[in-house]
Amino acid sequence: MPEATLTSRKAFIRANTRAAAVPGLNLSIFTADELTPIWEATEKDLAKHNIAPPFWAFPWAGGQALSHYILDHPEIVRGRRVLDIASGSGLVAIAAGKCGAADVLANDIDPMCEAAIAVNAELNGVAVSYLAGDLLETDLPAVDVILAADVFYEQTPARRFLTYLQRAHAAGITVFAGDPGRTYFPRDAFRQLAEYAVETSTEIENAPVKAARVWAL
Ligand SMILES: C[S@@+](CC[C@H](N)C(=O)[O-])C[C@H]1O[C@@H](n2cnc3c(N)ncnc32)[C@H](O)[C@@H]1O
Repeated sequence: MPEATLTSRKAFIRANTRAAAVPGLNLSIFTADELTPIWEATEKDLAKHNIAPPFWAFPWAGGQALSHYILDHPEIVRGRRVLDIASGSGLVAIAAGKCGAADVLANDIDPMCEAAIAVNAELNGVAVSYLAGDLLETDLPAVDVILAADVFYEQTPARRFLTYLQRAHAAGITVFAGDPGRTYFPRDAFRQLAEYAVETSTEIENAPVKAARVWAL
């Protein structure tokens, strides 16, 4: 993204959200209080209609659980090259950076995420690189660990994510997922490692606390 665009999107995020601690984690991210106003403001700022929801403006339940797990078990990322795929706000990537990952790469298809991840990484004092676009049909990156949080919420993308993660696993990359029981989570493909009760916003979930699990392939 051109530097000027990135700078203006970072300013937009800082002006329209607030830095909020993620409950139970020693991390903060720029978070929206309500879904619709930030969605409308983003459309206005980008001068576009029918954009994807501002996933980047919330810490999702799957991401919170996976971040908890990383902070509880820093050895899974320490000294390793990590990709946080579908990173949203960058929460999970930031947890990996805090825990001593050698290199943290965050990826998303939403162009707003580059700015969100940049402001959130700065806020938490960690370095996170960014790779834009859909990686699911591309060659695997040179990483040791892939983190995939809350990516199984739609049927066709869920299948594509599973195929990609299985391909990575077969190539020797360690794969962890965080999921709060989304309809299309392929639980038979994964083994459960942990469960956390995470506080979420009822702007994006049907309950203020969700049980979210951490899984490995
Ligand atoms: C529910 S949010 C989860 C964000 C973050 N991982 C978390 O747990 O807080 C899902 C994210 O997946 C991203 N996404 C959807 N399809 C994708 C794809 N094919 N490649 C990369 N990101 C994708 C969306 O843009 C969104 O940021």
